[in-house]
Amino acid sequence: MKVIRVANENDGGKEALKVFEAALANGARTFGLATGGTPETTYKELVASDLDFSRCTSVNLDEYVGLGPDDPQSYNYYMRTRLFDAKPFKANYLPDGLAADPDAEVARYNEVIAAHPVDLQLLGIGRNGHIGFNEPGSPVDGKVRKIKLTESTIEANARYFDNEADVPQYAYSMGIGQIMAAKQILLEAFGDKKADAIAAMVDGPVTPEVPASILQRHPNVTVIVDEAAAAKLK
Ligand code: GLP
Repeated sequence: MKVIRVANENDGGKEALKVFEAALANGARTFGLATGGTPETTYKELVASDLDFSRCTSVNLDEYVGLGPDDPQSYNYYMRTRLFDAKPFKANYLPDGLAADPDAEVARYNEVIAAHPVDLQLLGIGRNGHIGFNEPGSPVDGKVRKIKLTESTIEANARYFDNEADVPQYAYSMGIGQIMAAKQILLEAFGDKKADAIAAMVDGPVTPEVPASILQRHPNVTVIVDEAAAAKLK
């Protein structure tokens, strides 16, 4: 893993922009994208840049079950307002939170991923080391599935909702096997709440209890961390 330390998340966004620029220049055309607070500065930099994604495809990591594209808390809404409206892609794929048949939606999204191998996968990390919504204990060869969120994840994501009770209990998420299949991975983490997860991911043993630790086995991972998130690294 290549660890890049930055002063703050604004500088993190600028470093991430360089990674996207290089990937595009090297022929990357399929981007795996993430949501949450962490990639906000990256998307601001992408929007402000002159990068052209019109020949590119995006596949997102995850979506809440029960939230549709018009719900401001949905990841579909997030992606449109943070990136896609300003930077059109050839195609954007996300799981459909309103799908009537969850099993069929899981099968559909697995086909989407299989048809669009990811060149560069952007990731955040949960406080418990989750990636996408792959909570501790998730299978390392896993594919898309419907996942019950842990209490810690619901609590962490409650800040975006009026009440903790409004946070969906389930999400569709790409599996760890699919994340690991990306040619290149860029993981970002900012703030002291991520320090334990970053230390465990980089310096700890590879274990399903820290889902991100499997990234130690991926040949091309860049990690961008601010000082607070890097504080517990060896
Ligand atoms: C969420 C998302 C992840 C994200 C993580 C951290 O639950 N499913 O994709 O990386 O938690 O979120 P944040 O960046 O807001 O801290």
